[in-house]
Amino acid sequence: MLELKDVSLTLVGDKGQVEVLKEINLTLKNKKIYVMTGPNGGGKSSIGKTIMGIFRPTAGQILLDGMDITQKEIYERAHLGIGYAFQQPPRFKGIKVRQILELSSGKNQTENLCDLLYDVGLCAQNYLDRELNASFSGGELKRIEIATVLARDLKVAIFDEPEAGIDLWSIQRLTETFVNLREKYDMTIVIISHQERIIKLADQIILVAEGRISGITSQEKILEDIRQLDSDCRCRKDCIGGGLKNAKCDR
Ligand SMILES: Nc1ncnc2c1ncn2[C@@H]1O[C@H](COP(=O)(O)OP(=O)(O)OP(=O)(O)O)[C@@H](O)[C@H]1O
Ligand SMILES: [Mg+2]
Repeated sequence: MLELKDVSLTLVGDKGQVEVLKEINLTLKNKKIYVMTGPNGGGKSSIGKTIMGIFRPTAGQILLDGMDITQKEIYERAHLGIGYAFQQPPRFKGIKVRQILELSSGKNQTENLCDLLYDVGLCAQNYLDRELNASFSGGELKRIEIATVLARDLKVAIFDEPEAGIDLWSIQRLTETFVNLREKYDMTIVIISHQERIIKLADQIILVAEGRISGITSQEKILEDIRQLDSDCRCRKDCIGGGLKNAKCDR
């Protein structure tokens, strides 16, 4: 179980100090899929990075199975079983796909590596011995990044917008992978996402806006809210006749 207690985060940006997270309280249980969603810039990736130790909270505590890990370094948290797949994966040079997967998993069995790539919708024989360089497409890189997190034996796995730039066929494969992870392992899975397909996997939805948890809800409730918004937006049709002033829809 992972707990965030009154976690705040202030970062220094171009325009001075920014209060990115404000008193975040969260309890994330094992064997559950949490989908974190909300407006752009709300603080979702920052929560993920704070859990991973990439950002250190300005105030508050992070507990993993009751142990205070607030002051632990990234590598220590990685050792304890926390993993984070970046929204925008870094590009490595001079390393083969096989090597980065071996590095992540600590194993070198090709059989396992093939399964890992299959789980993210990649055909292993086309990739294992290819060097990770600029020739990789954004979606390919993203899937390899996810595979490096899947390779590990984790307690808490965070996937930051795993669907971004990924084709529909691979998303289907990926959603099955997430469900299998929940069924097979005692893992807490956090997926940051804006996608209905991913929201439908959630045991619980965490809404993040303006650096706060603005709600914890069910997938049924959030999908209903989105449908409601869509029906409000039908008013756009009226705009052609000059009905813009009365339109409830501001999108
Ligand atoms: N390193 C940083 N320095 C300063 N400000 C930052 C830094 N990283 C993020 N921020 C700011 O913190 C806020 C939250 O950013 P974050 O990336 O967590 O949002 P998000 O919810 O993941 O958004 P998106 O849906 O667009 O990915 C934004 O206003 C962003 O500009
Ligand atoms: Mg983000």
